[in-house]
Amino acid sequence: MTQAPFILAAMGLLAGCSREYAPDSQATGEQIFQSACLECHKPATNGSIYTLKARNANVAFIADKVHGGSLLMPSFPNMKADDLTKVSTYALEHSAVAGE
Ligand code: HEC
Repeated sequence: MTQAPFILAAMGLLAGCSREYAPDSQATGEQIFQSACLECHKPATNGSIYTLKARNANVAFIADKVHGGSLLMPSFPNMKADDLTKVSTYALEHSAVAGE
């Protein structure tokens, strides 16, 4: 298992890691988005930030993504349910829907 340290380091790099960020309780969805998401998710010229598949075009999907992250996207474990709803609603309102 001499490769273990390398594999762990690679996983740390890949797994976008997690972000400490915790929004102010007064923050709007837009403010949270600007603080936490805009660096990676910029609006297209038509104004939409995401093009979501229909089955993913809901607040629950986005909130789950933000809370849990993915291989490439950081997770935000310190966002409360309320923050997740606010930022996810904002993201959804700025999404186009294409495909299933
Ligand atoms: C460090 C960069 C980074 C940050 C910060 C980030 N994301 Fe992401 N996000 C990604 C990447 C890369 C993907 C594409 C890979 C994937 O889906 O896992 C992604 C995918 C997504 C998707 C899925 C889009 C689809 O087409 O299914 C949603 C929704 C999303 N991000 C929302 C957010 C929100 C909301 C925030 C802020 C709370 C955020 N992201 C912060 C990098 C980031």
